Amino acid sequence: MNFELKTLTRARICSEKTDALIVLISEGLGAADDPLSTLAALAIKSGDFESKPGKLLNIYRTAGIAATRLVLVAAGDGSAKNVRTAVNAAMGALKGSNAQRAVLYIGALEKSSPEIVRAAVVACSEMAYVYSTTKSKPSPAKLQRVMIAVNNVASARPGFEKGLGLVKGIEFAKEWGNRPANHATPTLLAGAARELAKLPGIKVEVLGPKEVAKLGMGSFMAVAQGTAEPLRFIVLRYNGAATAEAPFVLIGKGITFDTGGISIKPAAEMDEMKFDMCGAASVLGTFRALAELQPALNVIGLIPACENMPGERAIKPGDVVTSMSGQTIEILNTDAEGRLVLCDALTYAERFKPRAVIDIATLTGACVIALGGVRSGLFSNDEVLAGSLAAAGDASMDPCWRMPLDDDYAEGLKTNFADVANVAGRAGGSVTAAKFLQRFAANFSWAHLDIAGTAWKGGAAKGATGRPVPLLLDYLLGQVSPASTGKTPTKARAVRKSTSVPKVPA
Ligand code: BES
Ligand code: MN
Ligand code: ZN
Repeated sequence: MNFELKTLTRARICSEKTDALIVLISEGLGAADDPLSTLAALAIKSGDFESKPGKLLNIYRTAGIAATRLVLVAAGDGSAKNVRTAVNAAMGALKGSNAQRAVLYIGALEKSSPEIVRAAVVACSEMAYVYSTTKSKPSPAKLQRVMIAVNNVASARPGFEKGLGLVKGIEFAKEWGNRPANHATPTLLAGAARELAKLPGIKVEVLGPKEVAKLGMGSFMAVAQGTAEPLRFIVLRYNGAATAEAPFVLIGKGITFDTGGISIKPAAEMDEMKFDMCGAASVLGTFRALAELQPALNVIGLIPACENMPGERAIKPGDVVTSMSGQTIEILNTDAEGRLVLCDALTYAERFKPRAVIDIATLTGACVIALGGVRSGLFSNDEVLAGSLAAAGDASMDPCWRMPLDDDYAEGLKTNFADVANVAGRAGGSVTAAKFLQRFAANFSWAHLDIAGTAWKGGAAKGATGRPVPLLLDYLLGQVSPASTGKTPTKARAVRKSTSVPKVPA
């Protein structure tokens, strides 16, 4: 979908020729004598239009309005959340129509902060997204172009640009999340990372079984040994600041399919375990957005990618393996594989002397039970980091919720046969998983996001959500220090055509 940002007055909106004009209304449009304001006032007065977010009035070829279709949609108090609800409803109403171009007028909203504009852009693209990679006759979305119409382009621009970058990131994450496991093997995921490395500021390095063995990643290798599909350890680098500046590290769980291994899962809904690499997809998506927005930061992305399969070489319950950290692990349940691949990536992260390390993983069914599909689970050994991530989640409407890390939760991980077991009892399963990871994150500021409930939706609307790319991007952009002007522009950066990307994102 293509976006454009333009200043249009209320009167000018009425004469704008387009397939569909969507008008977001907060508490009424305010009195004016243009056809649109008159019509809206009439509809409200007659009780045919209420201000409840998402309520809409769908009108075809009406006097005084040049657009073919007119959709009046209520946005409540005009908050970012209500704007999202309103845009979702309006785009839903247009879905069956033949509209190819639309104008989304948000100039009538009382607030027009960067967050509002960003929310409008992201909501438009969310509704227009269709997965088609493995369909023989893809049916592309009809709606191709959306013009966001505002009162003042200059003040809307930062939110608009941020929205465009975020959309690219979300769509990249959804695409790889949605691909079935035979179309998203560890090797193909590494290919996706290589594609990203063609973008300005991004580099990639891909390690295979030999290099990983040399590093001593015995825990990661143990998970991968049950399948013929070779593992990959993907190292992405985004360089937007001086080389000396410490990087943020994002680690994404990249289990391209999780059968459970020898501790095999039941058949029902097992197909959804193709989404077990959504943490990895969110890292790829965040890098996609970084390439677009070019913030003055350094970011490393680490993706341990492999399948978890039963097989003649597969790990067995009770096996003890040695992680890269030297700690030995008793694998009591081969289905608790995510933590086994993440722990070696955490150890690897130490070499970057990071400002902070955030791992993102579809780690536990227990987190789905605890928080459902609304908030991701947040665990951290650093108060400031936890606070910033929680705030970024709220601001980007991709919320998370802090969970505890009391040492008492680690009791169940004790074993007579290794330094640590990979599972405790059923109780507090998302916390005990985090306690396991914490053992490998002692030397830096660390946070863990359990996205098992938020990374994809099941049922009729089955598909990846692209979460938590909005949270991660918002957090990272918030870490650009005001003093930092970034490194001297590289050739790649100078090539960027847009001059409107702010050095310090708003
Ligand atoms: N990938 C799953 C977690 C998962 C399950 C996410 C269902 C979303 C929906 C993970 O590898 C797993 O199997 N975890 C086990 C851990 C258990 C064996 C301690 C779980 O949650 O059941
Ligand atoms: Mn599992
Ligand atoms: Zn898993």
